[in-house]
Amino acid sequence: MNLKNDLLLRTLRGEKTERTPVWMMRQAGRYLPEYRALRGKYSFFERVENPELATEITIQPIDSIGVDAAILFSDILVIPRAMGLEVQLIENEGPLLPHPIKTADDLKRICVPDVLDRLHYVMSAIRLIKKTLDGRVPLIGFAGAPWTILCYMVQGKGSKTFDEAKAFCYRQPELAEKLLQMITDTSIAYLKEQVSAGADAIQLFDSWGGLLSKPDFEQLSLKYMRQIVEELKGETEIILFAKGSWYALKEMKQTGASGLGIDWCIEPHMARSLAGPDITLQGNFDPAKLLAPSARIKEEVKQMLQAFGKGRHIANLGHGILPNVPVDHARIFVDTVKEQSSLL
Ligand code: CP3
Repeated sequence: MNLKNDLLLRTLRGEKTERTPVWMMRQAGRYLPEYRALRGKYSFFERVENPELATEITIQPIDSIGVDAAILFSDILVIPRAMGLEVQLIENEGPLLPHPIKTADDLKRICVPDVLDRLHYVMSAIRLIKKTLDGRVPLIGFAGAPWTILCYMVQGKGSKTFDEAKAFCYRQPELAEKLLQMITDTSIAYLKEQVSAGADAIQLFDSWGGLLSKPDFEQLSLKYMRQIVEELKGETEIILFAKGSWYALKEMKQTGASGLGIDWCIEPHMARSLAGPDITLQGNFDPAKLLAPSARIKEEVKQMLQAFGKGRHIANLGHGILPNVPVDHARIFVDTVKEQSSLL
């Protein structure tokens, strides 16, 4: 099916575009009243596992905010679930994995599953989303990077430091390697099926990459993301977003990914000089800045666009949108990118 708006894909391929494409990480979520309305009726995993609901939620920000790409409504934690680990989502608190992985025995409880069997609902959702979008914008599929998934599988819940996950890797490196490889193999099969079902591009979220030193990032994260990119790069465009891991932009570029996400703690010119000219950068507006007055948002979006310059930039936040952002402010972000980037 031909896309009516393929700005995102052309930008990822390094082609010229009339303006900068824009979307927001976690754009399908709690800041939208239409999302909160569904939240009252269905549990989180009901929303994720029902293709009709997942389709409705995926498309909400396209209709309401006018972003240039849809991102599948799902979660990175469907992977540990599919591997056999119990995952709960506690309202207003976050994920809870009551029986985390700590020992060699624990590893026996999980497996590399048949993803079409365990995650068939994701592929059904992707097919229904593509049909419903009818070519309006591209659909981004995603997975967590293996390191970030390990963090939750071992720590068992969110954390500022993921100290137990890190201790597991430092004390039992062979086990960590085994677990990371199982997550990687599952993710490769999963992402290939997302692409077959119709995802136009893929993003890997390494939300906790920045907790690692550069050598540890190579050992525990990049080594596995590289395998994923290697297996998928002929088939789709891949964006790597490793929050806080600015020190590895060059190495991430060398994987063959089409785009690199950056957060607001690195300046665009610095990211560009580390990554080199021939890769698309995505980011990097501070999500909390969407809480500023609208005039300030407009001004700062202009500055961001100028700092990245024309071409090879996808406007986005430097991390997920916050639940307390007024919808109007999200719209101002998107509208300002659309207006101002055509003037660059
Ligand atoms: O981007 C999108 O809009 C698509 C959907 C999406 C969700 N989670 C939906 C969700 C995506 C891409 C994710 C990724 C995800 N999930 C990440 C990586 C990105 C990041 O923000 O760092 C992580 C670390 C998770 C794990 C996770 N899921 C956490 C920590 C939480 C609770 C905290 C929070 O942000 O709400 C979730 C729940 C979750 N995933 C919600 C949504 C819309 C909120 C559920 C609700 O309460 O309604």
